[in-house]
Amino acid sequence: MPSSNPPAPSSAQLEEVKDAVRALLHQPEYDDGSAGPVLVRLAWHSAGTYDAASKTGGSNGAGMRYEKEGGDPANAGLAHARAFLEPVKEKFPWITYADLWCLAAVVAVKEMGGPEVQWQGGRTDFTDDSKVPPRGRLPDAAQGSDHLRHIFYRMGFNDQEIVALSGAHNLGRCHGDRSGFEGKWVNQPTRFSNQYYRLLLQNDWKKKKLANGLEQFVYVDEEIELEEGEEPEELMMLPTDMSLLSDAAFRPWVERYAKDKDLFFAHFAAVFGKLLELGLVRDASGNIVNEENVEGGYQS
Ligand code: HEM
Repeated sequence: MPSSNPPAPSSAQLEEVKDAVRALLHQPEYDDGSAGPVLVRLAWHSAGTYDAASKTGGSNGAGMRYEKEGGDPANAGLAHARAFLEPVKEKFPWITYADLWCLAAVVAVKEMGGPEVQWQGGRTDFTDDSKVPPRGRLPDAAQGSDHLRHIFYRMGFNDQEIVALSGAHNLGRCHGDRSGFEGKWVNQPTRFSNQYYRLLLQNDWKKKKLANGLEQFVYVDEEIELEEGEEPEELMMLPTDMSLLSDAAFRPWVERYAKDKDLFFAHFAAVFGKLLELGLVRDASGNIVNEENVEGGYQS
């Protein structure tokens, strides 16, 4: 290990960072009142560039700080997530951005009622953009199940894991000025649950063409009680979400997760933990040992 690597933080130090993240989740002026969903997306997009064949990409490096990755249209809107975390980085400069982004998502999932995801630190931040992965590695929501397999198999995931990961769409919403899609998947988008799978199966989703030419699927929940003058809000699904229903290997997992919240929570915790570790090679004591895309780790 290079001697310039920092010592591993104590659990008390980590707890302080987690508390600081918990304290910023409530954002009454932002979206549905929580920074949680966009923080989960930040961690996912930081890790979801992994390519198992070349061992490049993944959550190490925090490449989104550079235009090459941060300016990728697929990452539109994630500057909000990075800005929410900036005061935490300023207060605890010893934590790397790469670790902070992943840890913040783990804290957010738990605080929104989701499972405890295993997290280990030691990621380093790139000091220039030479190891930042090329654009085009994240999924395109306008496509279908073949595309999902192409993207997620590249990272080393299987069909069950693809369906479990997609359950993160219980959280947050699509923004017309970010992805071009519009709306939220579930009524309570700041509460982690298996509602996404239940809604996928229960509802009669209708194709809707947006003014920008993109197509998504929508449903208006007639059962919701509305205040006077309130318009019923449409729920939405992306074409990739719908492909989980039409694909014969994906659908049984949608059905199981819709029925069994505990199973979904257990599988989500496992697969999200795996996502955040992609590309990191650790020794027996958990220290990151060098790989092509990893510059170091903690002192051993
Ligand atoms: C939001 C696509 C998988 C977590 C979004 C948005 C799109 C999208 C288009 C809307 C972005 C915006 O307009 O702000 C996809 C596709 C996936 C995928 C095509 C392939 C399966 C995942 C995974 C996770 C995830 C694996 C995490 C485990 C989220 C979250 C949001 C989101 C939390 C809400 C963000 C917010 O509220 O700002 N996704 N996603 N997605 N995605 Fe995914």
